Amino acid sequence: MTVLVTGGTGLVGRHLVRLLTGPVLAVSRDPRAHATDLDHVTFVDDDPAHLAGVTALFVHPRAVADPFALVARARAAGVGKVVALSALNVDDDPADQPSRHRGDRNAEAEAAVAGSGLPWVSVRAGSFASNTATAWAHQIRSGDVVRGPYADFAEAPLDERDLAEVIAHALTTDTLDGRRVEVTGPGSHTHAELVAIIGGVLDRPLRYHEIPPDQATGHLVRAGLPAAFAHALMDRYARGAGLPATVTGEVDKILRRPARTFPDWVADHTGPFTGEPA
Ligand SMILES: NC(=O)c1ccc[n+]([C@@H]2O[C@H](COP(=O)([O-])OP(=O)(O)OC[C@H]3O[C@@H](n4cnc5c(N)ncnc54)[C@H](OP(=O)(O)O)[C@@H]3O)[C@@H](O)[C@H]2O)c1
Repeated sequence: MTVLVTGGTGLVGRHLVRLLTGPVLAVSRDPRAHATDLDHVTFVDDDPAHLAGVTALFVHPRAVADPFALVARARAAGVGKVVALSALNVDDDPADQPSRHRGDRNAEAEAAVAGSGLPWVSVRAGSFASNTATAWAHQIRSGDVVRGPYADFAEAPLDERDLAEVIAHALTTDTLDGRRVEVTGPGSHTHAELVAIIGGVLDRPLRYHEIPPDQATGHLVRAGLPAAFAHALMDRYARGAGLPATVTGEVDKILRRPARTFPDWVADHTGPFTGEPA
């Protein structure tokens, strides 16, 4: 079985190509920039000719500009299975989905595989655990106070390794075929609690200091993020503040073991928070 993995150099794709044991073609815009210590992985460009002989395709919604065209080519090339990464909020109004304002096409990736006429799975992911490092690692490296909006907004952080394992399961078995599988982390924690958990693992007295949404929006825009993304994110926080995050338990059911917890994730990813190699 040969699997073609789009987004194969990214956060999810890196774990996924490692988990797959058969031949893997990992697509990159710059395949020559990526070395691998894995004998079964070859980095390739996005030439459709690479679909020849492929048995299963992973459609990454950030890396694939036109999922419908890719899936049609895959079908014509005889690919037997298509799996998309999507998002838990994919049915929300597009204007309310922050990731769409950064160009991610989760809805299109899901629709392309679901309408492919081939066996398909869409893996709808909840908030990645790594978002906490993206948002807070810089502040945590320079002090014990994390300034951010909506202290009582809760997430159920999903370990990207668990997400990749569910995707690998979807690609290599038929047990999830035809499903939109909603995967989240195992626990709902507010922003304030997440920072306290990171502090517990690092043995530091970290605390969350709430700032007004307008101020947080300004920080995100000055950091280079699109204003529409920042506004959609603040609106998401405003809608969900004070509510528990959705916890689906699907990782446990599919992988037949407990999902990795947020403290597990932090313990395995201290590097961004300490500035030292993990
Ligand atoms: N973060 C979350 O909480 C969350 C939750 C649910 C769903 N999602 C969705 O998950 C996806 C992100 O997954 P990820 O973190 O694995 O992505 P990623 O690491 O940012 O990107 C995956 C790969 O795609 C390529 N890529 C990146 N930006 C690109 C662009 N603008 N055009 C073409 N190729 C690009 C890069 O490969 P090369 O440079 O090698 O070409 C990159 O390594 C998004 O669709 C997001 O909406 C995220």
